[in-house]
Amino acid sequence: MLDFSKILVTAALPYANGPLHLGHIRSTYLPADIYARYQRLIGNECLYICASDEHGTPIVASAEKEKKSPEQFARHYHDKDKEEFEKLGFSMDIFHRTSSKENREMTQHFFNRLNEGGYIYQKEVAQAYCENCKRFLPDRFVIGTCPYCKAEGQYSDYCDSCGKALGPGEIQDPKCLVCGSPPATKTTRHYFLALSKFAPKLREWLTGNENLQKEVVNYVVNWIDNGLADWDISRDLDWGVPVPGEKGMVFYVWFDAPIGYVSSTVAFTGKWAEFWKNPDSKVVHFIGKDIIYHHFLFWPAMLLGTGEFNLPTAIPTRGYLNLEKRKFSKSKNWFVSLGDFLAEFDPDLLRYYETAITPHKVEDADFAWKDFQARVNNELVANLGNFVNRTLVLAKKLSDSKIPEPKNLDARDKELLELIGKKKEKISAHFENFFFKEAQEEAFFLSAEFNRYLSEREPWKEKDGQKVSNCLYVCLRGISALAVLIEPLLPFSSKKIQGMLSISPEQIKWDNAELELVKPGTPITNIAPLYSKISDEQVEKQQAKLKG
Ligand code: 2FM
Ligand code: ZN
Repeated sequence: MLDFSKILVTAALPYANGPLHLGHIRSTYLPADIYARYQRLIGNECLYICASDEHGTPIVASAEKEKKSPEQFARHYHDKDKEEFEKLGFSMDIFHRTSSKENREMTQHFFNRLNEGGYIYQKEVAQAYCENCKRFLPDRFVIGTCPYCKAEGQYSDYCDSCGKALGPGEIQDPKCLVCGSPPATKTTRHYFLALSKFAPKLREWLTGNENLQKEVVNYVVNWIDNGLADWDISRDLDWGVPVPGEKGMVFYVWFDAPIGYVSSTVAFTGKWAEFWKNPDSKVVHFIGKDIIYHHFLFWPAMLLGTGEFNLPTAIPTRGYLNLEKRKFSKSKNWFVSLGDFLAEFDPDLLRYYETAITPHKVEDADFAWKDFQARVNNELVANLGNFVNRTLVLAKKLSDSKIPEPKNLDARDKELLELIGKKKEKISAHFENFFFKEAQEEAFFLSAEFNRYLSEREPWKEKDGQKVSNCLYVCLRGISALAVLIEPLLPFSSKKIQGMLSISPEQIKWDNAELELVKPGTPITNIAPLYSKISDEQVEKQQAKLKG
């Protein structure tokens, strides 16, 4: 569908404001990784770009609570996220930071271009002000009582207890987060981006771009129909990208965050035009549904306004993940952090499960420990794990741990080998169109077909040595094909197979899937099961953590 040879894949930049949980992975980082890995396998030049989103008042407020500088605070989560992304096999070419020099320069460049284009203006706004601390108090610096659930100590823009977003002035008994004094209201001068001016161009792009999800486009166009409000893009704060020529004023975090996609490209390649301006290059942003507004309106308007950048080609958008039917909440201990998960389980188990429950849609899904156990045990272990292990153990016994020499393959043997190519085509189409769940299902269908063939042939009972060799040869071709086809989805499993069959990393190319990757006579080494079953005890331990 999308025919470009240079591809820039981005995943929404995680706030450096707390541990990542399983939901972040499902909507954004995993699908982006699958897509980027697939693009590289088919030979495209593909960069996977991400960074920590380090600015914004929530980070300043959290840092203040922990008596750390925002810099120190953000660095802690940046390092942690980076480590966890690596453990999950996310193949980001760079995981940069929005507090970087590159991002400061690029943000100021965007601002200057937008200003020159006549898209920026200044306006007085009313803002909470603490007379005691002598400072303006943006959103998170005012705390108070939620007007809905009466929980105390809630931020003025969001109640963590009942999950409601609060509008300006709604919080009861407001207080300065730092000193506890009730705030006054003062006027201050802010910069605005004239988003409304972009409405016709945004509509044209949204309705003319076939790669955007229709279900998302429909309600974004509805927002345009209802009139776009201009964006207040500055804050009276010290932590952020400074607004040129102003003191104590920085850009709103949502202004500099998406620019992080471009500045991180610069940090990695030293330039940006090759990926962001070149007609042969496409940009694909993976996001969760909570940030549709920012990526379908605000960010394209910024790109259009500079007159220097391509608009994104696709913005695959996915829904939220609940945990056992409830929203993830750190404060209510209804939470599974990535770190805790990875301390217990193999990363490919999470990759498998999350892909299996994530269609290319904005609908939400549920992570349930029992379901996770069932799908891992009944699908991953019983299908792929079982097929690979059975074949390799049989090859050890019946073929002296070597790839056997095939001779006079019969019609059924050939049918299996031909199935590889057929499935490969289907899987390709799914990857291209962001249908990763369906790609995984097809790959597992292939594995199941090979496993069925192995059961049918019963080489352990067969007296004819050549028939045994043929059957094992065909199955080993199935395994080597799967090492290629599942690489974007389950890279650790693919690596294990590559190790046992002595397949070199250079051979892992999409076009090689149906070729004889391993020559007869090649030894099969270090045979070990790909996975082990998840026990009831393991599941109960995780469930107990939630209740505790
Ligand atoms: O919603 C979030 O988690 C933001 N940190 C996403 C930013 S994405 C991009 F635009 F930078
Ligand atoms: Zn104060």
